[in-house]
Amino acid sequence: GKVRAPTHIISTISDDRGEEPCYAGVPMSSIVEQGLGVGDVISLLWFKRSLPRYCTKFIEICIMLCADHGPCVSGAHNTIVTARAGKDLVSSLVSGLLTIGPRFGGAIDDAARYFKDAYDRGLTPYEFVEAMKKKGIRVPGIGHRIKRGDNRDKRVELLQLFARTNFPSVKYMEYAVQVETYTLSKANNLVLNVDGAIGSLFLDLLAGSGMFTKQEIDEIVEIGYLNGLFVLARSIGLIGHTFDQKRLKQPLYRHPWEDVLYTK
Ligand code: ACO
Ligand code: LMR
Repeated sequence: GKVRAPTHIISTISDDRGEEPCYAGVPMSSIVEQGLGVGDVISLLWFKRSLPRYCTKFIEICIMLCADHGPCVSGAHNTIVTARAGKDLVSSLVSGLLTIGPRFGGAIDDAARYFKDAYDRGLTPYEFVEAMKKKGIRVPGIGHRIKRGDNRDKRVELLQLFARTNFPSVKYMEYAVQVETYTLSKANNLVLNVDGAIGSLFLDLLAGSGMFTKQEIDEIVEIGYLNGLFVLARSIGLIGHTFDQKRLKQPLYRHPWEDVLYTK
């Protein structure tokens, strides 16, 4: 029989050996002919399957809503400073991307992990939040620098509206909303933020679509796919900020002395 030489790489998501590249077995021409969008491409390359339209539309809405949030946030600030230091596009982009993490934009996976665990174990919002407090862990997906109970994040409302209208079940999101109701009773800044909204709603997407086994959902949550949505989305804005600074021919940035507290 045939003897297969051992390979150094295993790959299961795409194949470029034929006439045209395929994403999870789907040829590019078919993607274009069917009029599919970036949500479908993400669905093929990340989840290795074609998800229903409402799921891929939800992914696209996440990408659109997280594409940018003005020049003052951590990521854009880094990108702007880097572009003004004369660095190239890739350097300016990654400089901004490197700020994405547990406090900024990268709390989606942890929000999904903690909300799933708490909901599946039947914890009340009170039990969940107080247990987190005891452990000294901030609830991922809760809290915002400028959003408040009386000034909600429009992105969260839009995602919730879409899911309530299109998802078969929004049980994890409703749980996150109950957690928010409890945290808001403690402080006005402890709103459900966009990371928490995406984290909880993606759990609903995974569980409600009927396209994933329980083990697959656990693996997605454990590996942590969901911060990828913010990374991908915000790259759009960070690239825009780089072009903006170059177009405006902005000089080297230096932070003003007056804005630093020099102290011993
Ligand atoms: N859970 C519990 N308590 C919290 C939380 C939270 N998620 N966030 C703030 N608090 C409370 C704490 O008591 C905190 O006091 P502490 O410093 O003694 O812990 C108090 O509120 C004040 O917190 P600040 O540090 O002033 O809040 P800040 O405005 O700096 O933080 C932040 C905003 C970083 C988003 C914070 O709420 C947080 O860490 N949230 C969890 C991570 C998260 O979801 N990040 C994503 C944000 S959305 C985005 O970036 C796109
Ligand atoms: C963002 O999406 O960048 C914001 O939610 C963060 C912020 O501080 O406004």
